[in-house]
Order: sequence, then C-alpha cells, then structure tokens
Amino acid sequence: MCGIVGYLGQKKASDVILSGLHKLEYRGYDSCGITFYSEKKDTFITHKDQGRVRHLEDDFDYNHDNHLAIGHTRWATHGEPTQLNSHPHRSADGRFIIVHNGVIENYHEIKVKYLDNVTFTSETDTEVIVNLIEHFSKSLQISEAIRKTLSILEGSYALLILDTEHTNRLYAAKNKSPLLLGVAENGMTMASDVMALVGHADHYIPLEDKTYTEITATNDGFVYDMVDVIGKPIQTKMIKMDLVTEEIGKAGYAHYMLKEICEQPSVVRKIMNRYSKNGVFHIDENIIQALSSASNIHIIAAGTSMHAGLIAKHYFEVLAEIPTQVHIASEFAYNMPLLGEAPFFILISQSGETADLRACLVNLKEAHHPMLTVTNVGTSTLAREADYSLEIFAGPEIAVASTKAYVGQVTVLLILTFLLSDKKMFDLNAELSKAAVSMEAIIDNRDYVRQLVKDRIIKTSCFYIGRGIDYYTCMEAALKLKEISYIQTEGFAAGELKHGTIALIEKDIPVVAIITQEHISKNTRSNLQEVITRGAKTITISMKHVSNMKDDIVLMDTHELLTPLVSVIPTQLIAYYSALNLGRDIDKPRNLAKSVTVE
Ligand code: F6R
Repeated sequence: MCGIVGYLGQKKASDVILSGLHKLEYRGYDSCGITFYSEKKDTFITHKDQGRVRHLEDDFDYNHDNHLAIGHTRWATHGEPTQLNSHPHRSADGRFIIVHNGVIENYHEIKVKYLDNVTFTSETDTEVIVNLIEHFSKSLQISEAIRKTLSILEGSYALLILDTEHTNRLYAAKNKSPLLLGVAENGMTMASDVMALVGHADHYIPLEDKTYTEITATNDGFVYDMVDVIGKPIQTKMIKMDLVTEEIGKAGYAHYMLKEICEQPSVVRKIMNRYSKNGVFHIDENIIQALSSASNIHIIAAGTSMHAGLIAKHYFEVLAEIPTQVHIASEFAYNMPLLGEAPFFILISQSGETADLRACLVNLKEAHHPMLTVTNVGTSTLAREADYSLEIFAGPEIAVASTKAYVGQVTVLLILTFLLSDKKMFDLNAELSKAAVSMEAIIDNRDYVRQLVKDRIIKTSCFYIGRGIDYYTCMEAALKLKEISYIQTEGFAAGELKHGTIALIEKDIPVVAIITQEHISKNTRSNLQEVITRGAKTITISMKHVSNMKDDIVLMDTHELLTPLVSVIPTQLIAYYSALNLGRDIDKPRNLAKSVTVE
C-alpha cells in the first residue's frame, strides 16, 4: 500500500517520478505528491494533493531543471486523504523531506519522548519520522541521524529522504515494506515496485530489512552505499531488469483488467513451459521431498489468493492425498489452530508483500516450520523469507482486481500436486492445453457475456451458487463482482441456501450457478430450480459434459479437476461488464489497493 519513487541522475527527475507514480498508482490512489530540487531557484518545490496523479500533473510547473526528486501515491492509514496528509512531508525546521510507505506502530511514544515541542501539521505517522531525523541531526551526522531514527522506529517502512543541505544526495531506508534500488550509469532510481524502474535501470537490488542506503552524485558518476542500522556494509544481490515497457501497458485494451483476463490462456501456457522440459513436468526436488514428508498441509492466504488456496486444497487431497486446511492469513496470524505432527505451510500471494501473511511467516519461522511461498513476484519479501518459493510467471498484474494471478496460482499448485501424486490419473499436458483452449473460447465470445450481463445483472445484489470446487469458484466470482461493481454479492454453497439465506431470494434477484462436476450437477440443478421458483433471474455456467440445453454459458470440456481454471473466466467477465455498465473505475476500485502492506 502506497507507492514511493525517488530519482537522482542525469534525467529530468520530475519526469521519472511522475511516470513512476502512474505505474505505482495501483498501490494506492487517495492522494499523491512530489518534491524536486529546482536548480534554477535553488530550492525544493513540493506539489501534493488529494486525488490521482493525472490531477497532480494538471497543475504541475514543468519549467524547472531538476535531477533530484521523490514522490508518493497514498492509500490512507493515519489521517484522511487530504492535501495536508499527502506526502512528501517536511520536518518542522524545513531541513528534511520524506515519503513513506508503511505504518509506524510506536509513533505516539516517539512524539511524547522526543518531539514534545514540535508542531505537527498532519495526522500522519510519517511526520514523526521526518521530525525524529531532524531531532537527531542536531547532534549527529545525517547518516547517523537516520540510522539512529531507524533503531527507534517500530513497524513497517520504506522511506526516501531528502536533505535540503545536500542537493546531490538521496537517502533511503527499509523495513518490511518493499523498496528496490534501480541502477544505471546515468542515474539511480528507488521505487516500491520494479515497474517504476522500467526504462531507468539496467539492474536492480531489492533492499534488505533494517538497512540504510545513501546515493550520491559524484564527479565520477552515481554511487550508492548500503549499510545496516549500525553502519556495517551489507552484501547485495544485483538482479537484471527483465521487464519491458510493453509488458506494463494496456496494449489497446480499455482496461488492464480486460487485458489481464484475456492473457490467462497464455499464462497457463507460459507456466507449462516454465515447469516442464521435453513435455515432462518438473519442480525443485527439495520442495517435492519436503511436501512428501508432511503429515498435513496448511495453506495461508488472503482474498483471491485464499480462493486459489481452496482449489489447491482439493488438489492436495484428491491428487496428493495429504490432508489440507486453508486459513485466512489475518486470522491465522493471531489464532493459530492445532497444526498436526509434521505440518508444512504454503503461503499464496500474488504480490508476495501482504502484511497479514508476513505476520504468519514471522510466527512460523520462529517455530521453525517449513514453508513454501507461491507468488507472482520472485524477489518479494515472502518469496525471499520462506524456505522455498515457486513463481507463477503471470507477468505484472496491474488491475487491482486479481484475475491472471489467480489462474497462475491454481495452475502452479495443480502441477505441484500432480507431481506429488502416485496415480497420474490423466495427461496433465493435454488437459492443461485443453483448459487453455477452453478459456480462449469463452474470452473470444465475451460480447455474448456482455449482453447477458446487460439483460440479467441488476444493481443491488447477486448470488453465485455451486458445490464442491464450484463453490470455491463462486466465492472468487462473488469477490470479483463486489470489489469492482460494488454490487453486494455472496458466493454460496448451493445446498446451504435453503437453510436460511434463501429468504433473500425474491423476484428478479440475479443468481449465477456454476455446474462443472458430474457427481453433484443434479443437486446443484435442484437448488437452482428452488431459486427459479422464487422468481430469481438466473445465469447458468456449465461444462459441456454436464450441460443442459437451456444453460446460458457452456464451456468446452477439460478434466473435471481443471474446470476451475475455465469456469472462473465467465465470472471475471461478468464482473468486468457489470462494473463497466455501472461506470465504475474498474482498474482502481474505491478503498482498495493492490499490495496490502498493512495488517
Ligand atoms: C482481489 C484481490 C485481493 C488479493 C489479496 C491478497 O481481487 O486481489 O483479494 O488477493 O489482497 O493479495 P496477495 O495475493 O498479493 O497476497
């Protein structure tokens, strides 16, 4: 949550920051701001306000040469999204300027202990950090003052700091919130996400927790120095940039979400390629060994990733025959259940930065439990800190509502469980290929779904019903519809409806049924009949082998275990077109952010 970007180099810094903020806006978009050093005026200029980056650009004064700047796009935690609470923040005496992603837990104690006589202008915890640096700078060198501040801060932070007395330097620090240093001969860029480094860096370094970085423009070029809180140099790992500009554009689609929905068949094919050699699937033998010796598996995740975990639970139990439980990360972190004799943990996270999951990871690490992270970001915190990690290779997912990452997670976990299974019940290569073709068929037919949505989905509420893995898909379908259209939606176990919730069904309430599993298709159809009798407007999504003449969306067959990969596609399209009809901000729905780095 919140995106930060900073630049010191030969390019015009404000251009790098504004384009970086656009790319980071998915992380939060309540308000944004930028501070740059104007060489002409020999002063630091700040623009910040409520609202989006494009709004900031409207009033931006571009007539300044500048090569040093920091910027921020905010998802409000402490203080409402107002101009005053927007970042950057300046210390009371004006010397230091800061942007911050994260939450400082002991900000109140710090205020009382060190900053009694400071007048604060915002309600943010960030203003405490910048004033604490100022406080220590009165008696210490700047690097010592920042490191002293870090030793006191509790919580999460990625910080970029400007010192108005040193216009050739950019300072940074990090703990728990992501921060990368992009390295190029003509300048250094720092950002929360690799996307903001595209076009400005050849390599990048993911910063370690509790570290301090100083970038300096010298006569010989741009240099960086990375140390821990006590000033000891640390080892860094330089990674080659492999993202290109095309991968982060909309490629002609009206929204990132539609682009990402359409990319899903190729995500499945890419994963097949990445995890196989000469047609034979392969996953790190250490992971297979560790899972094989587990008595039971605990999957931990949040939101859409948790729904992918539910499908994976089915795979672990059917294919690998290992008892598996799925936990909501924010619950597991503070209410750990009984774990079993030799438990193994799988953390699923698109971003690899979700704070609720990190809280679980810290607890599990302390207890020396083995852990695997399944993520779309191989360099993310959760990937680095778990014992093992598997990447889903879905490519950057920019729409806040997750689509292709979900399909990527399910696909990778299917391959993993398939490799753990003794039986090899089917040809995975052939079935995944069939699933990709079936996904393509419904994507190509999306205008039909658009029409269906126009006829049947109303504004106020909606139900998805299904049984078994279809029920899990219903939960994901409901989340997608509510988060981008704001229509209240429930994903319900079809058979459970009659135990109370059916009281909500009345004339014209939309109910979407998902039917893909032969052994329970008749039961779901009976439940569908029960709502039709009570006046519901229904949409039926089925796979061909269990379809009826009157079904609205009939999907091409694949093996029953793979149907969630296909049946989720029409539900994503239903969500997309419902939101489009209602004029919603599809890629940036209200109150949300892509990477949830607060608990
Ligand atoms: C919904 C969505 C969220 C995320 C959740 C976990 O479309 O994207 O529910 O799935 O916030 O995020 P990650 O997967 O990054 O841990």
